Amino acid sequence: MALSDRLELVNPSEIRKLFDLAQGIEGLISLGIGEPDFDTPEHIKEYAKEALDKGMTHYGPNAGLPMLREAVSRKLMEQNGIEADPGTEIMILTGANQAFLMGLSTFLKDGEEVLIPGPMFVSYAPAVVLAGGKPVEVPTYEENEFRLSIDDLEKHVTGRTRALIINTPNNPTGAVLTKKDLEEIADFAIEHDLIVFSDEVYEHFVYDGVRNHSIASLNGMFEHTVTINGFSKTFAMTGWRLGFVAAPSWIIERMTRFQMYNSTCPVTFVQYAAAKGLEDGRSWKAVEEMRKEYDRRRNLVWKRLNGMGLPTVKPRGAFYIFPRIRDTGLSDHEFSELILKEARVAVVPGSAFGKAGEGYIRISYATAYEKLEEAMDRMEKVLREKKLV
Ligand SMILES: Cc1ncc(COP(=O)(O)O)c(C=O)c1O
Repeated sequence: MALSDRLELVNPSEIRKLFDLAQGIEGLISLGIGEPDFDTPEHIKEYAKEALDKGMTHYGPNAGLPMLREAVSRKLMEQNGIEADPGTEIMILTGANQAFLMGLSTFLKDGEEVLIPGPMFVSYAPAVVLAGGKPVEVPTYEENEFRLSIDDLEKHVTGRTRALIINTPNNPTGAVLTKKDLEEIADFAIEHDLIVFSDEVYEHFVYDGVRNHSIASLNGMFEHTVTINGFSKTFAMTGWRLGFVAAPSWIIERMTRFQMYNSTCPVTFVQYAAAKGLEDGRSWKAVEEMRKEYDRRRNLVWKRLNGMGLPTVKPRGAFYIFPRIRDTGLSDHEFSELILKEARVAVVPGSAFGKAGEGYIRISYATAYEKLEEAMDRMEKVLREKKLV
């Protein structure tokens, strides 16, 4: 099938549609958007200006600036226990989002299957379709805190399965896989000879003393894993568009070829700022401050949602929470529309993240504490008035 035909199979994200509906609603509080409300730390902006002043306004290498690949390699070693050669096993991308289509395109054949735990980040299934594959949703359940179970993976694997995408901490559920979960997934991947795409963009936003682990650091897994991460969430740099991957050299070599004929390379002065930022203690201090603030908001929203009668698992990571709204008798679309119109609060219907998200909504708490309080008050009022809880 031609790429132009495959493009017809992917639809604009459901989240966009809701934003269109939200346009023009006065006093709207948006809990829909998935990006930090913090500004990029000042010293990282200064590094970008410094790079511009140094004349870093030209093309760079297709795989990314060596200084950034080296800084990423040190970061992966120190923080993730992943040993990746900056020359051949790391590349820099224009955002983590690119890694799925580019990475899958290095090996996937027409009709081959990719397992994706649902609810899932909106880009995964379209990336699989565009790469010529077939996305297969593996549901995760509230009863298991939305953590992926091996039993469910076993039910969905076939002779045509080539890859598995995992995302910990998870968007939209906030689930964090334990080391034991990852060890079991690693055994499963090796047994079925799968490539694992491990999306770790929320790795630093974990709570309750939980630690996020990288599957590529487990025995024998580097050769089976594409580790995906970026600067959007960690350093509140969504608009700078910068991400990175670590993977076996045969994958990196092919992804670099893809990039060569697409974006050529990520923006040079942005890469410089990120490389300097990675090795500057002030950046990690800023991350810890953001993490603490997210944690404070998480506690508020979790308490309020359960208090108003929406049963909600306490998320261990990311900045999302995924309350069950099924018991109100409304579908997740009806519920989101009602809350948008009556409470002037934008949330995302859970089914935007796959079938397993039906009957839930996603709330992002990357919004000021006071706004979250106000949004919870408004939601509770509407739900009580309508006798939905
Ligand atoms: C799970 C997940 N992966 C990847 C991305 C994309 O990150 P980037 O901005 O680096 O492309 C997002 C953004 O929302 C995300 O939630």
